[in-house]
Amino acid sequence: MEHGNVTTEDFNPLSAEVAHDPFGAYGRARESCPVHHTTGFDPSFYSLTRFADITAALNDAEAETWSARTGSSPQFNPPIGFNVDGAESREFRTLFRKWLSPSAGAVNAELIDTTINELIDSMTAGGRVSGDFATEFAVLLPIRVIAHLIGVPPEDAPLLKEMTDEFLGAFDIPDPRGVAPAVRRLNAYFAPHLEHRRELLRAAGITEPDESDLGDTLPDDLLSYMLAAHHGDRRLTSAEIGYVLATALTGGNDTTTSMLTNVVLRLLEDPARWQRVVEDGKLVQIAIEESLRLDPPVLGLFRTTARDTTVDECPIPAGSKVMLLFGSGNRDPRKWDDPDEFDLDRPRNELRRHLAFGFGPHFCLGAQLARTEGHRALELLRTRLPHLRLDGPSERVPQHHLWGRRHLPVRWDHPQTAETGN
Ligand code: HEM
Repeated sequence: MEHGNVTTEDFNPLSAEVAHDPFGAYGRARESCPVHHTTGFDPSFYSLTRFADITAALNDAEAETWSARTGSSPQFNPPIGFNVDGAESREFRTLFRKWLSPSAGAVNAELIDTTINELIDSMTAGGRVSGDFATEFAVLLPIRVIAHLIGVPPEDAPLLKEMTDEFLGAFDIPDPRGVAPAVRRLNAYFAPHLEHRRELLRAAGITEPDESDLGDTLPDDLLSYMLAAHHGDRRLTSAEIGYVLATALTGGNDTTTSMLTNVVLRLLEDPARWQRVVEDGKLVQIAIEESLRLDPPVLGLFRTTARDTTVDECPIPAGSKVMLLFGSGNRDPRKWDDPDEFDLDRPRNELRRHLAFGFGPHFCLGAQLARTEGHRALELLRTRLPHLRLDGPSERVPQHHLWGRRHLPVRWDHPQTAETGN
């Protein structure tokens, strides 16, 4: 069935078929019909596939047409935390940005480097020469860093990963209550850590904490900040605290894991490409941006139309869920030359224009931290494990709106062997 350019043919970006080869399916959709209506999902939703259309929707600062108030998943959720529009969103983002400033990556460089070196040490311990880059490195780096920043023990990494996967797995369950058990579990996990900080405040006789108590009475971390911060003239509600903690944990670790596996896979699948990066450290930042463009960890997220609108002559009624397919926009030939190529020579001024971190008023608040983790990981891998190579087939992550590797077998020469030539 067709309305203008909208088709209801069975293109469902959340289906297993599309998830198997998302970029091929996006390319066909983008060229045959830029706006799709998927009726084989409850609720039905639309998708935008072209770079210019996605960017225009993301850039609607006052959300006159494109609202984030019902959340970034396909279900209609109540507005909370970052899932708000306009001035309300800007205010909430300021609060989060105070904690995780754009320079957070640089500030935390030492923590990031130490963590990376520990992970490489443990991968190579006892002369080991092969392993799973996904589970032994890419999962653990961001989760240990974010655990430290939130203020929970890095040893909880396996549990944090399990809770993240449970939360992300509920993204495309039609019933929004599907996410409730995962949220309850996260809240129950964070509760004693918050309570411990409240006890510290009671013991110090502080009833109205503020940010000056961080690093003094309270540890300097996100958990403490949640108790000290003000949102306008009030404190955060417990629902908001739970929401921010869950977003920082789940939004900040799996995505970075995928970025790390995706870039390492692209570099190692062409040994000459990896060799170039080994020989020239200036290519590290280019490799990360090109990976984010070609293989964005988040393939797409949702907005809701606040009024009737038209995209590429296709009518979309008010109140519709619309998936913005970053993975499609990032390979739109109207925007990029040779869009399906991983090109270490792509002009620098084009590199960061991809949509992997979104765009405009909801642009990712952890982008700088994620980029720094990527840069430092590649830098230390190319210098410490220059003979890294693939060691068997990799495996896709299970969530259909995400793109990364959950297993990535690799092999290396033991650093000592490489140096001595033995
Ligand atoms: C490679 C890693 C990452 C990727 C690909 C990524 C991707 C994204 C995307 C696409 C958005 C836009 C959402 C929208 O427009 O609806 C976003 C928003 C966000 N990200 Fe990230 N992210 C990454 C890392 C992080 C990290 C490390 C953190 C925090 C520690 C973080 C925190 C957030 C937050 C709080 C938002 C919400 C902003 C808002 O709605 O105003 N992200 N991220």
